[in-house]
Amino acid sequence: MRITFHGGAQGPWAVTRLVAVAGEGLAPVARLRVDAGAAEEAPDSVWRLAGVVGHARYATRAEIDTLAAMQPPLARPEATCAALIPIRKSPAWWALAQDERRAIFEETSHHTAIGLRALPAVARRLHHGRDLGEPFDFLTWFEFAPAQADAFEALVAALRATREWDFVEREVDIRLVRD
Ligand code: HEM
Repeated sequence: MRITFHGGAQGPWAVTRLVAVAGEGLAPVARLRVDAGAAEEAPDSVWRLAGVVGHARYATRAEIDTLAAMQPPLARPEATCAALIPIRKSPAWWALAQDERRAIFEETSHHTAIGLRALPAVARRLHHGRDLGEPFDFLTWFEFAPAQADAFEALVAALRATREWDFVEREVDIRLVRD
């Protein structure tokens, strides 16, 4: 499933923060719209980012089962806060073999183990843009209730301190609320 994020003047999500964490940022926008399906032109779009929701690359069977048992769905009524964090990894990351990337992702950085601690409070969806020729390899999307905002901040900080993030060359952090 192809998902397009439109940054501009319209959409149900109001942008509360948009910062460049690494590399080039994105132009400031007031609102965000999330479109499933074709990335049709939106006249008000300042920028448009697309990604495909695909299969898991690194998760083991046990991890997939644990995630499936714990992860909440998107669009829960109480989850009025969201984060869109587009990320591109370095050529050094992509030059690694699958087993080497998995080892850095989980055995060294404990990405899934750290992430599981935030469940079931945080709903997530990962979109892949790299093979679409998009500027970001990943569009990561999270939804949570306002009371979970501090816990989400701690989660992001923990992940950014890992070895995996040494390979992140571009990252933009966009925070949103739904009115
Ligand atoms: C990938 C879990 C939070 C960024 C993954 C994968 C899992 C996962 C299981 C691997 C999917 C696969 O097998 O391909 C979680 C959980 C989280 C969480 C449970 C808790 C909410 C985050 C956060 C960020 C993030 C907060 C960004 C700051 C990424 C990225 C990838 C990824 C960029 C793709 C990595 C790659 O393929 O190289 N996550 N994650 N995750 N996650 Fe998370």
